[in-house]
Amino acid sequence: MSVIILAIESSCDDTSAAVLKDGKVLSNVTAGQKVHKDYGGVVPEVASRAHQINIVPTVDQALVKAGIHKNELSAIAFTRGPGLIGSLHVGVCFAKGMAMSLGVPMIEVHHLRAHVLAHFAEDPKPNFPFLCLTVSGGHTQIVKVSDPYTLEVLGSTIDDAAGEAFDKSGKLLGLDYPAGPLVDKLAQKGEPLYSFTEPKIEGLDFSFSGLKTSILYFLRNQLKENPDFVKENMNHICRSIQDRIVSILLNKLEKAAKQTGITEIAIAGGVSANSGLRKAFQEKGEKLGWQTYIPGFQYCTDNAGMIAVAGYFKYLRSDFAGQEVVATPRMK
Ligand code: KG4
Ligand code: ZN
Repeated sequence: MSVIILAIESSCDDTSAAVLKDGKVLSNVTAGQKVHKDYGGVVPEVASRAHQINIVPTVDQALVKAGIHKNELSAIAFTRGPGLIGSLHVGVCFAKGMAMSLGVPMIEVHHLRAHVLAHFAEDPKPNFPFLCLTVSGGHTQIVKVSDPYTLEVLGSTIDDAAGEAFDKSGKLLGLDYPAGPLVDKLAQKGEPLYSFTEPKIEGLDFSFSGLKTSILYFLRNQLKENPDFVKENMNHICRSIQDRIVSILLNKLEKAAKQTGITEIAIAGGVSANSGLRKAFQEKGEKLGWQTYIPGFQYCTDNAGMIAVAGYFKYLRSDFAGQEVVATPRMK
């Protein structure tokens, strides 16, 4: 009999639902929340309210798109954490209610594991062991993946995440939240004319807070000389910021590959949608003889398709959640 999983993701500001059948994603529907743009960042209270509005139509659409009736479902997977507590509550409670009413098991999924396992949504799939650079709005990690169940964090950020570095730098330039995709777009028309400091952090950890400070001082100095500096050089500034973030990420990834001897290398998470990172990653891979893996755009930013894939691996081991499972904002 086929295994059909409905997955729900609501850890931050995107409400997403997906249906997976025997390991293949049939639908992956996401409702974004534009409302946070006006506040310059995600407002947790506003996010949880929007999830409540979006969750039913999003799940409904995912089922319709997949051509699956809810009575055919084998299990409900959901993001348990990490994330915003109010946002997670909506998805977890909805999943629990739906699983109870259908009499099917629940599968709790770790959001960051799902970003890594998103690579198994489509071909080509990485071979084990592989390294995955997970870069999102909340996290920046290099993970060694020995099998779908054994993941080890080799390095992570000691302050801001890579996505935050994009968003905060963009904010200094007056760009709307989330600034990452906008910086990416503008950078494509610019040259890397300005050099920002590369932090000196031991081992495989990252730091991005110094970069933000150096951009702030750079802009202050330039604006003293020319009040239109940002307006006149926006594309070049974006390109310079992007190139520095990308070089910080890829230098550490190269170090991790050398240390472990692993040549199957992947990137994942919202920032892996960045065109500069995708290009530089592929070029580095060719130079160093890596097999590189980049998820399709729909599996980079937060989406329930990746929750469904991670949930399916747990389903195969009958690793189900108990009825007492709760949303968990901080998880190891
Ligand atoms: O994985 P994700 O959707 O949510 C979290 O779990 O955080 O990542 C969101 C982050 C945001 O910081 C956003 O600015 C960044 O990913 N991002 C990008 C791009 N697309 C999304 N950053 C740079 N370039 C992009 N094209
Ligand atoms: Zn994420």
